[in-house]
Amino acid sequence: MILNASGCLDALAAPEVARSLDAFVTKTVTPQPRQGNRPVRIAETEHGMLNSIGLENPGIEALVAEKLPRLVELGVPIWVSVGGFAATDFAELCAALDERDEVTAIELNLSCPNVDEAPESAAEIVVAARAETRKPLYAKLSPAAADVAEVARAVQAAGADGLSLVNTMRGLVLDTHSLEPTLGTETGGYSGPALKPIALAAVFRCYRATGMPIVGMGGITTGRDALEFLAAGASVVALGTVLFADPEAPARVQAELMTELSARGLDQPEDACGISHRAAATTVA
Ligand SMILES: Cc1cc2nc3c(=O)[nH]c(=O)nc-3n(C[C@H](O)[C@H](O)[C@H](O)COP(=O)(O)O)c2cc1C
Repeated sequence: MILNASGCLDALAAPEVARSLDAFVTKTVTPQPRQGNRPVRIAETEHGMLNSIGLENPGIEALVAEKLPRLVELGVPIWVSVGGFAATDFAELCAALDERDEVTAIELNLSCPNVDEAPESAAEIVVAARAETRKPLYAKLSPAAADVAEVARAVQAAGADGLSLVNTMRGLVLDTHSLEPTLGTETGGYSGPALKPIALAAVFRCYRATGMPIVGMGGITTGRDALEFLAAGASVVALGTVLFADPEAPARVQAELMTELSARGLDQPEDACGISHRAAATTVA
C-alpha cells in the first residue's frame, strides 16, 4: 500500500497522481483557517529540503463543505490529517469527521515542528480524540522524541489504532552569502533522504514495542526504500518529498517494490512486513 505523506500532494491540482495512490492523506487541517508562516517557507539543502509551511489550510468547515466532496470523486480512500494547539482542537476535529462516511481514517498530527505544540501529551490528545470518533486513528509522531517507542506505547494505551512514522525534524539552512537563516521562521522541518535511517529506526523500534499497524515514511524514494520500511515493521508506506521532484513516484516505487520482493522470493508487500524482526522473534521464543 502506497500513500502520500500529508502536505506533500495537492490531490485536486494533481488528480492523476492522487489516483495512483492506495489512499490520499490530506494536508493537516485545523479548526480555523490558517494562512501559515511568513515566507520564505521552502529551502533546498543537501539530501533533502526544509519547510516551514506552518499548517496553512482552509479550516475544517471549508474542508468538509468544499474539498471533501471533490476529493471523494478521485475514487481513492481519504485519510484526513488533523492538527491543533490543544487536545480540545483535536477532539473537535474528530467529532466533525466522525459522521463523514467518506473519511476512511484520521491521522493525528502530533508532531509538526513549525507551529507551537499543544500543552497536553500525545497520549492525552489521543484520549480526547478517541472519545469523539470510532474511525481508525493514526498517531503521527516525531522522530525527535527522546524515546519514540515509549510515546508509541503511550498512544497505543490511549486508544490509537496505528502509527504514522515519522514527521520532519527541526533543521536550519543558512543563506550562502549573508549566512542568515533562509526560512522566514529561521528553523524548519527537514525531510527527504537524510531522514530515512532515522525514520527506519523509529518504525523498527515502535513495531517491536507495540506491534501496531504503521505507516512508514521519511526519505522514501525507491522500491528498495519501501521494502526496508516494510521489513522494519511498516504495513503501509507514504511518499513525501520525492513527490515534488517526481510526481510519478507512486507507480514507479510500487513497480520497483514488486521487483525487490520477487528477487527475495516474496509474493506481496504483506509478506515483507516485520521480517527484520525474525531473528529477534526466534531468540525470544
Ligand atoms: C512541504 C511539506 C509540507 C508538509 N506538511 C505536513 C502536514 O501538513 N502535516 C503533516 O503531518 N506532515 C507534513 N509534512 C511532513 C510529511 O508528511 C512527512 O512526514 C515528512 O516530509 C517525511 O517524509 P519525506 O521525507 O518522504 O518527505 C510536510 C512535509 C513537507 C516537505
